[in-house]
Amino acid sequence: MCGIVGYIGKKNSLPILIKGLKRLEYRGYDSAGVAYIKDNNIKIVKTVGKINNLDKLLNYNDESFIGIGHTRWATHGSVDTTNSHPHQAGSITIVHNGILENYQELKEILTNKGYTFKSDTDTEVLCAYIDYEYNQTKNILDALNNCMKVFEGSYATAIMVKDIPNKLFVMKKDSPLVIGIGEQENYIASDISAYADETSAYIILEDMEIGQIEKDNISIYKNKKEIKYNIEQVEQDAFDSDKNNYEHYMLKEISEQENLMDKLNNIYLKNLDKIMDISKYNKIHIIGCGTAYHAGMIGKYLIENYSDFEVNTYIASEYRYQKIFADDKTLVIAASQSGETADTLACIKKVKKYGCKTLGIVNVKNSSIARAVDEVIYTEAGQEVAVASTKAYSSQVYIFSLLALKLGITKGLINKNEINKEYEKLPSYIKELTNYDYEDIISKIWQAKDVFYLGRGIDYISMLEGSLKLKEISYVHSEAYQAGELKHGTISLIEKDTPIIALISDETIALKTISNIKEVKARGAYVVLLIKEDLNINIDKECYDKIIEINATDNLLQPILNVIPLQLIAYNIAKKRGCDIDKPRNLAKSVTVE
Ligand code: F6R
Repeated sequence: MCGIVGYIGKKNSLPILIKGLKRLEYRGYDSAGVAYIKDNNIKIVKTVGKINNLDKLLNYNDESFIGIGHTRWATHGSVDTTNSHPHQAGSITIVHNGILENYQELKEILTNKGYTFKSDTDTEVLCAYIDYEYNQTKNILDALNNCMKVFEGSYATAIMVKDIPNKLFVMKKDSPLVIGIGEQENYIASDISAYADETSAYIILEDMEIGQIEKDNISIYKNKKEIKYNIEQVEQDAFDSDKNNYEHYMLKEISEQENLMDKLNNIYLKNLDKIMDISKYNKIHIIGCGTAYHAGMIGKYLIENYSDFEVNTYIASEYRYQKIFADDKTLVIAASQSGETADTLACIKKVKKYGCKTLGIVNVKNSSIARAVDEVIYTEAGQEVAVASTKAYSSQVYIFSLLALKLGITKGLINKNEINKEYEKLPSYIKELTNYDYEDIISKIWQAKDVFYLGRGIDYISMLEGSLKLKEISYVHSEAYQAGELKHGTISLIEKDTPIIALISDETIALKTISNIKEVKARGAYVVLLIKEDLNINIDKECYDKIIEINATDNLLQPILNVIPLQLIAYNIAKKRGCDIDKPRNLAKSVTVE
């Protein structure tokens, strides 16, 4: 969701800006633009669509040593060139990620002062307000400081000032921004993956900070005072964005789950001290969005099975505004791949006011959520490029299983040696499931308009995730239902050949789900049954059309295996439908606005 880049230094800025924007493509965008200074003039080039469209419009002979760039994911105003960034007002040119919430009010003030606006965006207002303050104060740092007192909402902004052609400025609140440090050159980016091969050192701008960036100097200010900053180091191998001959990043990332489990076993299973002891809390709240929320719901089931108390899971965008019952004996666990999801981050800030302890299950190191929580467990999945989350999900579920495992061992409910063997078998099971030939199933259902996913208990949660994967990358409508719930309304939608994907991995309620499957089969549905092998039940061959047996492991780990066929079914349907699998329409990888 919106990417920001900037460069100042000794090289031509244009190729560097474009390279950075391409690296940030994974965040999701619908238009792109750059601004750069050539012969003391600020030039702006912007267009809708892919960065290649922008690339074609650029004149690389226009040598310039300072510039900013942006990929826009539309929030205010349609996807068109006028609304795309950079925006300009008077002396100020900016790119912006976030939402200026009081922009209507500020627009009115500025209109009364004679400003006119070309676009429908909040960003143009933000830009004009900086210009207005700059005209009043004649000092850009004072102007930005004043703006921060007035601006409501979120912003990560890179700014060029016409009469200060040798400096870039940045400011931030609630949206991410980093400054990469080079030699006689410096970079700006929404995240360091944009320039990780140009620089190994970077500064993370914190909320309410302003940065002044020259080619050989960086100064950071807060409340008008210059402050010291920490320099972070880019982790080697943190950004492996090579597709390694896979057709899509999503397929690569699904396949990587095999080795990831091995890696996680080595890091965490062999050293459970790295896993938080959650037994001392009275309440556990788990929060997340989308796939991370689904991982959290699996976490709820796993932890509840090894504890005496109820765990509640919440969608972060709801939790941040709802009444909550939490105190200093409450542990709030936030799951997030990017570590930048605005709603999840807002929940962490909220619960701190209640005195809660916070734990992050996060993939991206040093991300905002990783820094905001009291404790973090990294999911170590490496860079996830495909918008649809796969390996991040299974690694989150893995970490939840370890929280439950540690609790189970403490309470004497789990035999560590036996369960260790199951963890060690995960990679080979995942390999079998990824190598399985799904073509037969795909050929029957890829043209369907609707697909229904059925399961009970924890299997229903896996189906929520399977259904989300299908929707987001193939644009096929689908719903997940608790198997027993269908007959309370939705079964009216089932007709001849409606695809139903059903999962049974919990033996205790398997026969109940089978009865529900028979109900849809009797109405002509085409049933694909995913079933844990070795279940001690008789399944009538009449009740399904295709069956996939999933390797059997301990209940604590079964959800990690159950999701693999669901990911691959979604992937293969999307592929057959010719969809842009890694960058599905309208979606962003890092959701930094609410
Ligand atoms: C779905 C997907 C999203 C994310 C959600 C939260 O495949 O990727 O639903 O899971 O936007 O993102 P993170 O985990 O970065 O907080």
